[in-house]
Amino acid sequence: MTKVTVLGSINLDTTYSIPRIPLPGETMHVNGVSSAAGGKGANQAVAAARSGVDVSFIGRVGKDHGGEFMLDTMKKEGINLDNVLVDEDIETGSAVIMLDENGQNSILVDAGANGEVSVKQVEAAEDTIANSDYIIAQFETPVEVTIAAFKIAKKHGVKTILNPAPAHEISDELLSLTDIITPNETESSLITGIEVNEEADMTKTAEHFRNKGVETTLITLGSRGVFYSSSVGKGFVKAFKVKAVDTTGAGDTFIGALSSVLKADYSNIEDAIKYGQQASSITVQGAGAMPSIPTREKVTEVYGG
Ligand code: RIB
Repeated sequence: MTKVTVLGSINLDTTYSIPRIPLPGETMHVNGVSSAAGGKGANQAVAAARSGVDVSFIGRVGKDHGGEFMLDTMKKEGINLDNVLVDEDIETGSAVIMLDENGQNSILVDAGANGEVSVKQVEAAEDTIANSDYIIAQFETPVEVTIAAFKIAKKHGVKTILNPAPAHEISDELLSLTDIITPNETESSLITGIEVNEEADMTKTAEHFRNKGVETTLITLGSRGVFYSSSVGKGFVKAFKVKAVDTTGAGDTFIGALSSVLKADYSNIEDAIKYGQQASSITVQGAGAMPSIPTREKVTEVYGG
């Protein structure tokens, strides 16, 4: 069975449903407030676990009700939490999500315990990383920890997937340790300075990353689909047209689901992207990040085998 390790964030999400994203200086009444399990790392781990693979997590929560709830939620998904620490001094990470009537969101994140995930923790998790097919990381935990984890992964021939969100500049060192990078179009432009409109821009972006050592670039383009460029070729995989209720966690679902089916030689890359998009198209039709991530059975029920 494929084994995936996720190094990443665990957040409690509070979603405010609003007519539209407020303008600077504007005060607005909300239509409703709800809470759900979230965090980019935790969402990606749950997406992979619900797709039936073996998932381990490296992360940190606070010693509080939120942390207890999140660990309990992830444990019920069958995720191995041996490398998740409970921090005595800092609260569990949290996110405030503004969700508009079109299902689009803006997210504010308070790192909390996620900011305390340490190099020592990933060193202690060397065996877990070494036994994985993929390790996935994002930018909601300290970047030096991702570098340390990817170095361990490389030492053991494990493929590394970097989801560069929230986007910021990426060092050449981290790029040289990354096998697959998965920005959305906005993140891609912020990181490379290359506007992503036409296919030629995407090809240029993939070349930019390849020159820095990244073998595979996947740019997620929302309703337009996914552009990929890899050692096995390049192309587009179209998105599935659905009515979005809440896009929170869609990108995370894509990455987790993709990692559960992608072969090490990328020979099934188009099918893996298609499966990731099928899963995320289901996520956007439900409220909240983690609660709406589908199982493999659900994806099969909706889209066939
Ligand atoms: O990608 C969605 C996630 O981003 C939310 O669950 C929130 O916690 C933030 O990490």
